[in-house]
Amino acid sequence: MELKHIAFIMDGNGRWAKRRLLPRKIGHREGVKALERVINACEKRGIKEVSFYAFSTENWSRPQEEIDALFDMVRKFADNELKSYVERNMTVRFMGDVTKLPKDTLDALNKITSAVRQNGEGMVVNIGLNYGGRDEIVTAVKALVDSGEEITKENIESRLYTKGMSDPDVIVRSSGEKRLSNFMLWQSAYSELIFIDDLWPDFNAATVDSIIDEYAKRTRRFGGLK
Ligand code: IPE
Ligand code: IPE
Ligand code: MG
Repeated sequence: MELKHIAFIMDGNGRWAKRRLLPRKIGHREGVKALERVINACEKRGIKEVSFYAFSTENWSRPQEEIDALFDMVRKFADNELKSYVERNMTVRFMGDVTKLPKDTLDALNKITSAVRQNGEGMVVNIGLNYGGRDEIVTAVKALVDSGEEITKENIESRLYTKGMSDPDVIVRSSGEKRLSNFMLWQSAYSELIFIDDLWPDFNAATVDSIIDEYAKRTRRFGGLK
């Protein structure tokens, strides 16, 4: 089956920094560089959609200093990189309740969404910020109930942040942790899971190639017989 959509749980920035006796912030800075490498590699290899988990609804429990540093990086990433992706005809979208983000970060994100072309032919880049899978489902169901429409899978799906996107064919998590941590709970129903020991800041084009190779070896049955 074609590998259309890869979703990444970007984990291990803190450990990358700790191993070098550096502040966690530096790990996140290197994590942004890895994100850029991975986006470029996926684009080159013709992947149609990529999703990234950048900040979870649970990450608010981290020290305020780290949260501030993270959103400052998101703002800079939006102003520099995301802007250039939109110019390259990619579609950039966000999932999560971004209204809770610091105002300057939110302003930078809004600038990107308003610049996205309607029928961009390029890759779709979807970034989870203040994203939680359970919150996403609750928000979608609430909207559906308010609409008075029938409760069906399709009607729930059309109210998720990923509306119009395919489910991830693969979910990749870095740093050796083997869990989803509230990421794309609805969409992951039949995703292949790939866990890689490398820390996120060490991800590069070769890692993307290894994911493509591993996916090619998997047999997807969707409950049927091969
Ligand atoms: C990045 O890795 C993921 C984010 C929440 C931004 P971590 O910051 O979780 O790094 P570790 O797990 O502490 O190594
Ligand atoms: C998951 O990583 C969230 C993101 C990658 C944004 P965490 O480091 O927050 O997950 P746990 O706490 O180890 O499950
Ligand atoms: Mg972590």
